[in-house]
Amino acid sequence: MKKPSVLMFYGSPRRGGNSDLLGDFFLSGAEEAGATVERVRLYKRDIGPCIECGGCDTTGECVLEDDMVSIYPMIQQADIVVVSSPIFFYNITSRTQALVERSQALWVRKYVLKKRATEGKARQGVFLSVGATKGRLLFDGVKRVLRYFFDALDADFVAGLFIRGVEKRAEIKSHPYALERARQLGHALVTGQGLSSLEDVWLPGKK
Ligand SMILES: Cc1cc2nc3c(=O)[nH]c(=O)nc-3n(C[C@H](O)[C@H](O)[C@H](O)COP(=O)(O)O)c2cc1C
Repeated sequence: MKKPSVLMFYGSPRRGGNSDLLGDFFLSGAEEAGATVERVRLYKRDIGPCIECGGCDTTGECVLEDDMVSIYPMIQQADIVVVSSPIFFYNITSRTQALVERSQALWVRKYVLKKRATEGKARQGVFLSVGATKGRLLFDGVKRVLRYFFDALDADFVAGLFIRGVEKRAEIKSHPYALERARQLGHALVTGQGLSSLEDVWLPGKK
């Protein structure tokens, strides 16, 4: 049987920071469970925003020539797509937002051209996020953004981890439960095991 493939988008400009660590732990769990993994560090890539040129309107192919050219096929091949991003001004980071906007070409394929990106089983989408404050609504807006992003990718938004109150680089190491949850989540999704044992995992529709 083919090993599941996991594509991780690291969305923080800060190397070795909190969302990076969540992503790393997720991948270590996924690799332990036998997945193949690919990592894309968004701030190392040249990815511009959508310029609303209409170039994809009839083809579902983006006409911009930047690093998204190689990223679209990576998305197409992934079984599990993971985005890790810190909260910046109640939003995802701007480079992560550029990735989201550029999924417009995939949205056209799905909703205008009626071409399914996946055959049979939908891929899975996971969002890992961190913020410094403890506000109740901290992740409300970005959860919605990611819901629409994953929908354009033909991915079910199956799980997320949302960690409040971490600010300094790698401060999340002082919350080992959060990193362990990320590792368990990576493992559980690859093995197809239920997530009910992961009580801190946010499941869409339940909150
Ligand atoms: C430009 C900027 C804006 C931020 N805006 C918020 C915010 O609106 N709410 C919040 O809780 N934290 C905010 N933070 C704090 C980061 O989310 C926090 O430090 C996080 O742990 C950084 O994650 P990283 O280490 O993965 O980059 C902001 C940080 C920066 C640099």
